[in-house]
Amino acid sequence: MLYGRILGWGKAVPDNIVTNADLEKLVDTSDEWIVTRTGIHERRIAPEGVNTSTLSVQAGKAALEKAGLIAADLDLIIVASSSPDNLLPAVSSQIQHQLGANCGAFTVVAGCTGFVYALVTAQQFIATGAYRTILVIGAEVISRNIDWTDRNTCVLFGDGAGAVVVQACEEQTGLLAFELGSDGEGAEHLMMPLGIAHPPTHEAIDKKYQYIRMNGREVFKFATRTLARSAAETIGRSGLSIHDIDLMIPHQANARIIELAARQLGLPMEKVFVNIDRYGNTSAASIPIALTEAIEEGRVKEGDRLVLAGFGAGLTWASAVVQFGLAEKSVATGWLATPTRTVKAAQNKISVAARTAGMRASLMLVPLYTRVSRKQRPEENSNGQQPK
Ligand code: ACO
Repeated sequence: MLYGRILGWGKAVPDNIVTNADLEKLVDTSDEWIVTRTGIHERRIAPEGVNTSTLSVQAGKAALEKAGLIAADLDLIIVASSSPDNLLPAVSSQIQHQLGANCGAFTVVAGCTGFVYALVTAQQFIATGAYRTILVIGAEVISRNIDWTDRNTCVLFGDGAGAVVVQACEEQTGLLAFELGSDGEGAEHLMMPLGIAHPPTHEAIDKKYQYIRMNGREVFKFATRTLARSAAETIGRSGLSIHDIDLMIPHQANARIIELAARQLGLPMEKVFVNIDRYGNTSAASIPIALTEAIEEGRVKEGDRLVLAGFGAGLTWASAVVQFGLAEKSVATGWLATPTRTVKAAQNKISVAARTAGMRASLMLVPLYTRVSRKQRPEENSNGQQPK
């Protein structure tokens, strides 16, 4: 059995910071509303000329350097993104070319969940022995898909990229267990309608089909139903218990969603990594950016076990238990399928079900604190362009 050891990591975010105060000038919102509802204080927005490939290459180079490798060492590049430079070719080939790599490359599209899907895919190539060294990137310049007159979405998102290099290793490390999920019935709750079903006609553009539209409340409900449950299921599959988890790195979509998931799992917030305050929701880039920062800040140490958990457009979800580096003791993993695994999964499920019942009661209070006083809507920026 071969495991994909995380050997390198890196991130890239644009220099341009857009604060909540900046957004108050564009739409009818307030710093107070954004911070209390989402935990976001600022986000990075890519200027013209900086595209998903640009940030991906920067993050990829940083990850390669950390791993002590060069692009020529790569056997495969997998990119998760919903904001490619062009609809065709896949942005992964542009990234492969700009990096100077000589290997296969493809793009995974699974909304904010994409990076975990890509990491799980990389592990399959490594486990079979097909490839030894794989660059996995999550990257978005999602600001170009945002209607900057729509306060429901424009306050939430930001741009960035994160990357890891995984390399085949005979000792147990890297991905220990995972769950991938999809429920296309909820597609309409988070979508950018432009595509083959809605080609870019004048009518489609007038209807703003080129922008993300979101039913925030439905996505919120989906996330609070899914995130902790999926994480608990995957922890059980890994043969570990919640007490064995050193750090949770959730998708950074909303601080309230993250706090609810941590409470449902019974994980103290000290064991949860949060950086949404500085970057907003960077979609597929959010988990690898957070992972990189957690390692750089010393929150992740050799042998630590992490749970990555995401949700997003699709609707999709995914979680993974990942061991960073080599541990002294090994565990029975999902691949090895021991009875412990089944028992731990059942225990985690029961514990999450009990906590979820409690959280459902508190979620019923959400409408009470979602009432906010409206301010006058400014006249400017009626064309939906991003802020400079
Ligand atoms: N500023 C001020 N008021 C606002 C804003 C804003 N930016 N946005 C919405 N409001 C108003 C609404 O119009 C509504 O007013 P009303 O009561 O007069 O109608 C009120 O605030 C409450 O709106 P809700 O949508 O109920 O607010 P809620 O507390 O649910 O928070 C939020 C909204 C933050 C969007 C939340 O629902 C959320 O985070 N949902 C999940 C979104 C998410 O994670 N999306 C990304 C998925 S990942 C991917 O794949 C891209």
